[in-house]
Amino acid sequence: MEAKKLGLVLGISTMVAAFTIILHLLKAPHVQHALLGEFNFIIPAMLKGASSSGKYQQGKAGVLLPNLTSCHESMGRSDLPVYCCPPMNQSDVAFIDFQFPDPSLPLRVRRPTHLLDENYIAKYKKAITIMKSLPDTDPRSYTRQANLHCLFCTGAYNQHDSNSPLNIHRSWLFFPWHRMLIYFHERILGGLIGDDTFALPFWPWDIPEGMVIPEMYMKAPFFHEARDISHFPPSVVDLDYSCTASSSDDYGCFESGLGPEDQVYTNLVMMYNQMVAGAKKMELFMGCPYKAGEGGSCNGPGTLELAPHNTVHKWVGSNLNPGSREDMGVFYSAARDPIFYPHHANIDRLWEVWTKLHGNKVITDPDWLDSSFFFYDEKLQLNKIKIRDVLSITRLRYAYEKVDFPWLNSRPRPSVPLEVARNVLKTRQNEKLQRNGILSSTLRTRVNRPKVRRTKREKDEEEEILVVHGIDVPEERYVKFDVYVNVVNETIMNPRFREFAGTFVHIDPGVIRVEREANLETLRKKTDLKLGISELLEDLEADGDDSIWVTLVPRSKGCINATVDGLRIEYIR
Ligand code: C2O
Repeated sequence: MEAKKLGLVLGISTMVAAFTIILHLLKAPHVQHALLGEFNFIIPAMLKGASSSGKYQQGKAGVLLPNLTSCHESMGRSDLPVYCCPPMNQSDVAFIDFQFPDPSLPLRVRRPTHLLDENYIAKYKKAITIMKSLPDTDPRSYTRQANLHCLFCTGAYNQHDSNSPLNIHRSWLFFPWHRMLIYFHERILGGLIGDDTFALPFWPWDIPEGMVIPEMYMKAPFFHEARDISHFPPSVVDLDYSCTASSSDDYGCFESGLGPEDQVYTNLVMMYNQMVAGAKKMELFMGCPYKAGEGGSCNGPGTLELAPHNTVHKWVGSNLNPGSREDMGVFYSAARDPIFYPHHANIDRLWEVWTKLHGNKVITDPDWLDSSFFFYDEKLQLNKIKIRDVLSITRLRYAYEKVDFPWLNSRPRPSVPLEVARNVLKTRQNEKLQRNGILSSTLRTRVNRPKVRRTKREKDEEEEILVVHGIDVPEERYVKFDVYVNVVNETIMNPRFREFAGTFVHIDPGVIRVEREANLETLRKKTDLKLGISELLEDLEADGDDSIWVTLVPRSKGCINATVDGLRIEYIR
């Protein structure tokens, strides 16, 4: 009996000791290895267990992590294989867990491109020249930096623990992943010139002063060949850039034809819609919840990612590459153009701005917070960094110089007097979604609203959203269509009018060949476009109506092969 007891005690203490040693091993050395790192990742996931729920879960946590040993070919287009993997074998790469910079360090202050001085430009020039001279074997080199973006937008890495590819566009990974990318890019540039206050500039295309290609990006080493010459200064950026279905050639992109002042005004109104009226709830701005595992991917970008993010990519890219408008116009090549970085600094800044405008809300889902990625820093150390690590830019020791945002007061007006619209719409026959939802030309239909005249409180709590569901796009085409509500004459419509509810913009993502061959049907996801319309309905005095007219206007030739399953009203918290 006594012996048995002793054995039990010994057994337990051996187990405790072994467990302590394991824990110690996992924590002690700062440098870990990719495989150990994966083990390290499994434990918190197991401990978390029950708390990680969600409809995408399939028995394991939804935390995303790339498998660095899985790098494979990407596909930019079906006729153009793209390979962005690092030159060396990535099977056993040492990494460290991300450490916050010393809080006593000065902030790196990112300034708008139109306010930079000669000294700063000279510094940046020096840094980028060195970066461009580094060999591909150095992860700090310009090519490797650009390839990082290529890798994560073409699914060149699989997820840890699954054969599903990992993609950082069209979901809630969009903002944090790009923040990480340019944060380390900035640190590397600073490191190359020994200046730990170096900050990237931002290209504020959302304010009138920034609505042209910044001067410095027109000169070496920031100039880039593969751009549309007709968009060089003083051409005003079109934040709603379209490649129209009515142009004669296959892909012809379409200039808005607006004079500079009208273009500026339209851009401001567009910004108002994407940042304020159409983005009142988290998912509308951040994008859909993308989780780990086979069924976890989702395809639902937020307002700002759709436009101006995607549209500015297309607007900058070269018209001499009509298919995809490389380099900026398609993701695998976008980061080769130096203007990619100030473009993304602006996206990053607008994420900050949106968060402040909306009461500092952040996503609390641990699957998002703990999703992690790997980035090299200026000391050539590979960092494993979690989304939760990049939610405070002050802790990352950078800041944005304040600029005014006149779009905040650019609430649009209806295109025609509301009584006129009402009379016309009354006589209109319902057309349903004709042609099986094929978007080859304008589609018009009536959509029922389950609830009318909700109180202010109800609206604050639950935003009314118009869902264009089951959008199926040809993968390799630029697909853009606009969504309007209660429109009388769609031929004059653009985002400057209150009838504009939002836009869908699909950039050719680049697809992996294995994915194609394996099982395209199950892996390809249709998109749901979600547009907040509470404010729009008030402005159009349609909040008491039990149905609205919705018009989908194709804005790219790619729409010919795109279809939508339907439209419905939902409510989102
Ligand atoms: Cu990852 Cu601007 O794209």
